[in-house]
Amino acid sequence: MNPDALRTEVNDIVWWHTIDLGNGIITPGRDETPARWPLLGLPESLAGLSVLDIGAWDGFYSFEAERRGAARVVAADEFAWQQLGTGRRGFDCAHRALGSEVEAREVDVLDLSPETAGGTFDLVLFLGVLYHLRDPITALERVASVTSDRLVLETHVDLLGVREPAAAFYPDKELYGDATNWWGPNLPALFGMLEVAGFADATVVHVTPRRQRLRNAVGSRIVKGRPRHRYSHGRTVVHARRRKP
Ligand SMILES: C[S@@+](CC[C@H](N)C(=O)[O-])C[C@H]1O[C@@H](n2cnc3c(N)ncnc32)[C@H](O)[C@@H]1O
Repeated sequence: MNPDALRTEVNDIVWWHTIDLGNGIITPGRDETPARWPLLGLPESLAGLSVLDIGAWDGFYSFEAERRGAARVVAADEFAWQQLGTGRRGFDCAHRALGSEVEAREVDVLDLSPETAGGTFDLVLFLGVLYHLRDPITALERVASVTSDRLVLETHVDLLGVREPAAAFYPDKELYGDATNWWGPNLPALFGMLEVAGFADATVVHVTPRRQRLRNAVGSRIVKGRPRHRYSHGRTVVHARRRKP
């Protein structure tokens, strides 16, 4: 692609992901995406694997899986591609610029099945999506239906000091002023949801360290009399395997 034309197109798009498109062109995403990849605990090489990236948005993780040798990658999304910012233009632009063969499928998580996703997948990435769903257990069951081996789940967690399975419920805009955020399970609740939905061997590979949670809470803006970031809030990455029948 002509770098000047690409630069003009990139500047006309509202980006979520920060993607290096080559020729010194990096998409100006709000998210510092490359810094989040190492937290996923994935091997350097994904050679030969089939990968499904659910909630792919601009596609950083799909393109990275392809770059790391995945044999087939499907990027699935719906909400952001249809309703946010400049929709799917970011994904399509990066796809063209990278010469990617990632397949795009516009499908809601709740409609996922081997038919709608185009099969089942060795590795399913479900990153930053769970807390946006009103019914997380049903969503995880749909995710299980398209997972043949391993799930990598990244999500917001809350109530991190509570030992029993529990989840914070955000009926309005309590979490970061975003009305599409519904649930903040703690880790025992997340493990329970995964088990109920058909996954096994759940393992935490990352959780926001306490000192970071403390820094976030102390430095937090106060919104409507409440801190935006709380000590009980964090992010986690969990690996799990599809339970064999
Ligand atoms: C916070 S973004 C995370 C994007 C990307 N996975 C990442 O980690 O950077 C949430 C994504 O979930 C998608 N999403 C939310 N609800 C969805 C639904 N019901 N079905 C499919 N995707 C959904 C949004 O469209 C958006 O792409």
